[in-house]
Amino acid sequence: MRQPMVAGNWKMNGSSSSVSELIEGIKAGVGAANAEVVVCPPYIYIPAVASAIAGSDIHLGAQNMCDQDSGAFTGEVAGPMLKDAGCEYVIIGHSERRAIYGESDEVTAVKYAAVLKNNLKPIFCIGESLEEREQGITEQVVARQIDAILDGSGVASLANAVLAYEPVWAIGTGKTATPEQAQEVHAFIRGKIAEQDAAIAEGLRILYGGSMNPGNAAELRSQPDIDGGLIGGASLKADDFLTICTAN
Ligand code: PGA
Repeated sequence: MRQPMVAGNWKMNGSSSSVSELIEGIKAGVGAANAEVVVCPPYIYIPAVASAIAGSDIHLGAQNMCDQDSGAFTGEVAGPMLKDAGCEYVIIGHSERRAIYGESDEVTAVKYAAVLKNNLKPIFCIGESLEEREQGITEQVVARQIDAILDGSGVASLANAVLAYEPVWAIGTGKTATPEQAQEVHAFIRGKIAEQDAAIAEGLRILYGGSMNPGNAAELRSQPDIDGGLIGGASLKADDFLTICTAN
């Protein structure tokens, strides 16, 4: 049985006071979650959130990471620093990193390997644009994105990773993939991994991301190959996030 996961990607939102209020709110309700609960704050709030969640059932992640461990890389944050600060997970390959900051499949694969090397766990994001979906090449796109990490790190690396299928057209748009659309791609992804290693595929958590909210979470989460969600907008309100964490 795969343990579901619900991870909040806070993106570049918040302030000291709003982050403190949000994490206290999540802490108050996390006991009812039927999933591993992860929060991914902006780097600068990671230490405050780490202190706030000490001793709770909330896990900590970062939204990005440098592929290098230390040195002259102005503005970057390294894996050993994230580990030191109490992170367990790192989101890699988010479509905003790919589209806005030009991260190629090669860059995401190098970062994925660096996360694992630092004994952190990648939450590796994949997903097609609207144009790609309309062209009917969704499966080719996600296969190419997954091949980048399989070629670089091998299928066994997925034992310590989580995948997130996030159709770009559904992120922050309020347009969600239907449960059937999402399930279809999730099943394709699991099948593709199973071609290389059936046991790894069976144990792999594949999250759905893209406008998951309190109203659609239960139906999405009930699909056989959807193992939880990566939540953006709805993770910024404790009540909404907790409703997703408890949905079934
Ligand atoms: P959204 O973002 O829930 O706001 O669509 C999801 C994500 O980008 O991970």
